[in-house]
Amino acid sequence: MLNVLVTGGAGFIGSHLCRRLLEEGHTVYCIDTLLTSSESNINPLKDNPHFKYIKHDVIQPLDETKHNIFEIDAIFHLASPASPNHHSPLSYHALPMETMMVNTVGTHELLKLAQKHKAKFLFASTSEAYGDPLEHPQKETYRGNVSTTGPRSVYDEAKRFGETLTAYYERDKDLDTRIVRIFNTYGPNMQEVDKRMIVNFIVQALANEQITIFGDGKQTRSLCYVDDTVEGIMRLMFYPKTKGEVVNIGSAGEHTVLEYAEIIKKLTNSSSEIIFSEDLPLDDPLKRKADIAKAKKLLDWEPKVTLKDGLQKIIEFFRQSHA
Ligand SMILES: NC(=O)c1ccc[n+]([C@@H]2O[C@H](COP(=O)([O-])OP(=O)(O)OC[C@H]3O[C@@H](n4cnc5c(N)ncnc54)[C@H](O)[C@@H]3O)[C@@H](O)[C@H]2O)c1
Repeated sequence: MLNVLVTGGAGFIGSHLCRRLLEEGHTVYCIDTLLTSSESNINPLKDNPHFKYIKHDVIQPLDETKHNIFEIDAIFHLASPASPNHHSPLSYHALPMETMMVNTVGTHELLKLAQKHKAKFLFASTSEAYGDPLEHPQKETYRGNVSTTGPRSVYDEAKRFGETLTAYYERDKDLDTRIVRIFNTYGPNMQEVDKRMIVNFIVQALANEQITIFGDGKQTRSLCYVDDTVEGIMRLMFYPKTKGEVVNIGSAGEHTVLEYAEIIKKLTNSSSEIIFSEDLPLDDPLKRKADIAKAKKLLDWEPKVTLKDGLQKIIEFFRQSHA
């Protein structure tokens, strides 16, 4: 069994990844500052003797001996603010320096650590590396339409430089790295304060308050349930012939934002009214849909959880956390 380090392991996707790794019998070192997450995400994992939580900022070197870490076989680098909603105190707009540093300096620290331990390395990048795409859906070969100075650049460009660092270590130092470009993912352990679209809609619908759509609601999103995203990330790390690969993981099922609001209203039996606000997020992409042909071919992966089943699980999570 392996010794696996997960940065951002207390976060939304990270906590599901830690659970999955533990289920497979690995030892998991969860590295997190709880900057944008809550310890409640990992509390259920703490009874497992193979789970170790280390409060550490990854932009600083990790002192492995201090934490009794002697071997590392794989590093998943997920640490980063991720919410694009500029109304959220946890968004990358609200945490610009933290976002830039964790994806650049932090990535470099972790690549050095991987090199020292000859560990496999996975960098969690994002569909936002494609910016406001001119190609639709986005293949991994598409180079993107990104502003280097716009409000989203603190996230998009930091992720792009994180990719560059990762590719450099693979190419010039022969490190066993890969990059996952994650598209919108949803599921339990998302935080209300993140104010990501799906969470806002669910919380508003459960409270029978107005469901607010920013813009005209015609912009499209493709949402992947977190168990599917984690499966894709696991395969990309551990399947053969993945060294040096860049792979999209996300859903190819595209819906308009208005459709998501309507489905959630129906599934929650809500009496909420759907309203439209002019307050469109900054540089909000109009279309976003993953081309997952490469993941299908290389990893034999595609999402399995239907939108209805996935939404019912996250609705139940928020129902219970508000009970
Ligand atoms: N959720 C999505 O839809 C999505 C989409 C694309 C990419 N991603 C990427 O996936 C990763 C995880 O996203 P998430 O949605 O789980 O976000 P999240 O905010 O729930 O989790 C990120 C975690 O990183 C931690 N963190 C941040 N800076 C840190 C630092 N310097 N040192 C240690 N820990 C730090 C936070 O405390 C948090 O627990 C991120 O890299 C994000 O960019 C997510």
